[in-house]
Amino acid sequence: MRISVVGPGRIGGNTARQALKAGHEVVLSFSRDAGRLEGLAGELGPGASAATPAQAVQSSEVVVVAVPWDAIDEALAQTGSLDGRIVIDTTNQYGRSEMPAAGQTAAQFNAARMSGARYTKSFNTLTSAFQAETADRTGDERVVQWICGDDADANRVVAHLIEAMGYQPVDLGGTADCEVMEAPRRPGAVYGEEYRLADARAVVEAVNAGRPIPPTPSY
Ligand SMILES: NC(=O)c1ccc[n+]([C@@H]2O[C@H](COP(=O)([O-])OP(=O)(O)OC[C@H]3O[C@@H](n4cnc5c(N)ncnc54)[C@H](OP(=O)(O)O)[C@@H]3O)[C@@H](O)[C@H]2O)c1
Repeated sequence: MRISVVGPGRIGGNTARQALKAGHEVVLSFSRDAGRLEGLAGELGPGASAATPAQAVQSSEVVVVAVPWDAIDEALAQTGSLDGRIVIDTTNQYGRSEMPAAGQTAAQFNAARMSGARYTKSFNTLTSAFQAETADRTGDERVVQWICGDDADANRVVAHLIEAMGYQPVDLGGTADCEVMEAPRRPGAVYGEEYRLADARAVVEAVNAGRPIPPTPSY
């Protein structure tokens, strides 16, 4: 698959690295310094290239959005239409620009500004350092990357990708139900916490039933 990473910084750089390891092609775009994208593509090696955001998105099936909250509108202006593309939004709502309305999840807010995209959210709950460090765990120790999104087929494609990238995918449901995977870190949420599959299943059951999630596990 061809995956474009819009904003290959800490989170985007790690997703690019893991996607390449899994045998995918990666196109890097969006930087205040175009030379940096070429440099990173060279460093990542075969399968990686740099392009403008519009070129990258047009040539990719999956688009990873990994920019700071305040740069999302600028990134979307540069990508142009995301129609039909599976988007993985890794962002968290830290910044000064417009925020989700009361009662609206950040995923719903961002899905609305990426209209036409097959929107999903993932890779947002754990620090970039922890994601990089734990990417290739095996068996029961695999770290969960949560997914939410309203297009079930897109969620499935993203789940396969996450698995190939070295993590345990867990689908939490639609964009209306994913508040527990959104910032900030707090009791009663999975944001900021390591999860493994067995404990994640109990979270999904609780969210589906509209119950508080079980206490945070420790490993
Ligand atoms: N860091 C974490 O631990 C973490 C964990 C989970 C989720 N997140 C979320 O993931 C998203 C990305 O975070 P990050 O820590 O990976 O950020 P980062 O390391 O600062 O990377 C941001 C990327 O966006 C590009 N960029 C930023 N502003 C730009 C602009 N105005 N024009 C063009 N390019 C621009 C940067 O390119 P240049 O620097 O080359 O210009 C860089 O490639 C954020 O929404 C964050 O909340 C972060």
